Amino acid sequence: MITLGIETSCDETSVSVLEDKDTVRSNVISSSLFRHKEFGGVVPEIASRHSLEQIEVVYHEALRKAKIKPSDIDIVAVTYGPGLIGSLFVGVCFAKTLAYSLGVPLVGVNHLEAHLVASFIGTKTPSKYIGLLISGGHTSISYHHKGQVAILGQTIDDAVGEAFDKVSKLLGLGYPGGPILEKLARKGNPKAFRFTKPKLKNDLDFSYSGLKTAVLHEVQKKKYGGAKQGQRGNAGDPTKRLSDEDGSQLPNDFLCDMARCFQDAALEWVMDHATEAAHQKDCETIVVGGGVCANGYLREEFTRKVSRIGMRVLFPEKLLSLDNAGMIARRGYEIYKKSPRKANSNLKLTGIPNLKMKSCA
Ligand code: KG4
Ligand code: ZN
Repeated sequence: MITLGIETSCDETSVSVLEDKDTVRSNVISSSLFRHKEFGGVVPEIASRHSLEQIEVVYHEALRKAKIKPSDIDIVAVTYGPGLIGSLFVGVCFAKTLAYSLGVPLVGVNHLEAHLVASFIGTKTPSKYIGLLISGGHTSISYHHKGQVAILGQTIDDAVGEAFDKVSKLLGLGYPGGPILEKLARKGNPKAFRFTKPKLKNDLDFSYSGLKTAVLHEVQKKKYGGAKQGQRGNAGDPTKRLSDEDGSQLPNDFLCDMARCFQDAALEWVMDHATEAAHQKDCETIVVGGGVCANGYLREEFTRKVSRIGMRVLFPEKLLSLDNAGMIARRGYEIYKKSPRKANSNLKLTGIPNLKMKSCA
C-alpha cells in the first residue's frame, strides 16, 4: 500500500512516499529557512508563499525518487494542524484536490502525533510509553497506552526549541538556534555557568523564560561589566526585550561556554522530567520527537542515562526528526488502517492552527 504524506505546517514543504508501514521510498523537503534568516525567525507570510511555490515541485520530485506514478497512490495523508494557518491551507488544499482527483481516501494528520510516531518507522510500536515532544513550538510529556493519550506536563511559556532560538539570537548568532548552539557547545566548558531549574506546581511542567533571562544577564555582565540599572546599556533590567540585545561583540570562548551550559541545562530538564514520568507510570520506554531531538548531545546523554536504570529511549532517524512528510505518511497510514471509513469522507478537512494531541499509536 502506498501512502503519500504532505507536510506544510511551518517553514518546510515536504512530500513523502511510504510503502506499507515502514518503507520510506522518498522524503523530499524544501525549506524556506534561508528566506527567514534575516528576520531571526519564521515570517508566516513568507513561509506560506514558499509552500505555494514549492508544493507541486516537491510532489513530482517525491514521486520521481520513489519511482511511482500518481495512479500508484492508495491514500493521501496531510498535516492539518497545529501550525501556521496559511501554510496549513496550502498543504490541505493540495491534498484534497489530489485525493479527489485520484479517487483515494484523504487522512488528516496531527503534526505532534506524527513527530512521536516517527520513531516507530522500522520498529515495533510499544504498547505503552512516555512521549517527549520537543520542538520549536511545543514541549510536552505524555503518557500513551493503547492509543489513548494523557498529557502529564507541558511548558508554561516558551518551548525548548524556541528557547534555543531566542538564546541564539541574544548571543548575536543565527536562526535556527539549535544546531548553531549545539556546534559551539562542543567546545564549551560545562561548568562555566550554573542555571537552576524553576520550581513549578506540577513538577512535570516546564518553564524556559527564566533560563533565557539568566542568559541575558550573563551577556549583559560580560558586555557592560555588571553595570547597574539605568547605567550603560540595560544591565540588570530583566524586562528588556531579548531581541533588542546585540551579542555580536561577545568573545568566542564566552559563546562556547554559554552555549554548552544553556544546552546542558535546557536538555537536562527534559531528560529528568521524562524519566520521572516513566517512573510514575511504570513505563520502560520513552519516545522522543520534534526538531530538538536532532541534538547529538541529547541522543547520547539520554541513551546513556536511561540504560543505567533499565529503560530505553527511542529517537527517530535524523531526517525524520525535523519537520518532514515521512512521519505524516506513517501516522496517516496508522489512522487509515484503524478506521478506513472515516478517511473516505474527509473532504471537509481544513487547517486547525491550535490543534491538540488527542490520540496516538
Ligand atoms: O519540529 P521542528 O522542525 O519544527 C516545529 O514543529 O517547531 O523543530 C524546530 C526546532 C527549532 O526551534 C530548532 O532550533 C530546534 O528544533 N533544533 C534543535 C536542533 N536542531 C533543530 N535544537 C537543539 N539542537 C539541535 N541540533
Ligand atoms: Zn514539528
